Amino acid sequence: MRDVAASGGMGRLQKVRRAWLCGQMKTKINNHFIMNSQMVFLHEFLKNPFQVASIIPSSRFLERHIVKLAEARSAQTVVELGAGIGGTTRAILGAMAPDAKLLSIEINPRFCALLHRIQDPRLTVHCGGAQELRETISLYGLPAPEVVVSGIPFSVIEPGVGPKIVETISSVLVSGGRFVAYQISKHVEELSHPLLGPARVEMELLNIPPLRLYRWDKQIAFSES
Ligand SMILES: C[S@@+](CC[C@H](N)C(=O)[O-])C[C@H]1O[C@@H](n2cnc3c(N)ncnc32)[C@H](O)[C@@H]1O
Repeated sequence: MRDVAASGGMGRLQKVRRAWLCGQMKTKINNHFIMNSQMVFLHEFLKNPFQVASIIPSSRFLERHIVKLAEARSAQTVVELGAGIGGTTRAILGAMAPDAKLLSIEINPRFCALLHRIQDPRLTVHCGGAQELRETISLYGLPAPEVVVSGIPFSVIEPGVGPKIVETISSVLVSGGRFVAYQISKHVEELSHPLLGPARVEMELLNIPPLRLYRWDKQIAFSES
């Protein structure tokens, strides 16, 4: 009897030990994946600095700030432009409702491959340019978004492309929807002000480099009676 009890005790101990080892393994694999993704980000920045526009991905502080300013929690359809290796994507998904949808558009194929590894039925990853925003939304049969979040570098993008993207964002957003951009440069303000009016501007100092966050609210259209 004592042996059985003892072996039962050992079994439990072994189970606890196995669970602990599994946890350790998972943490190691996750850390390895994060390190690898960050190396990919740095590598792609060195290859194409004007397109990637940042030497490292956004900090957790910036990710949280973006989600809060965009009020992603209350949106049914969110579009993300320039998703990178997916930190901002995961942060948005973390806040979104279980039945909401996120369309993440990214131009860099290596980043797209990492984004495709995010297992979430609410997420659609599109590998392509933000300049095809309208076509991409209809390609996936999504409704007009309440939120567009963008990290693409408007100040260094090809001439003519930035204004076209902002024009499209402003026209695809639902009435009362919001556009949130996180940028080093103020160029996005010059592009968006004529279409969306003055922005609410906030700073995130706990990011390398510190960044400005802009939020525009598309005016609510009142139908004529
Ligand atoms: C500053 S990084 C932001 C990445 C990520 N969202 C983050 O916060 O860590 C800008 C991203 O925009 C992407 N990008 C640049 N131009 C783009 C375009 N025209 N269309 C879509 N993505 C673009 C870059 O490849 C890069 O991943």
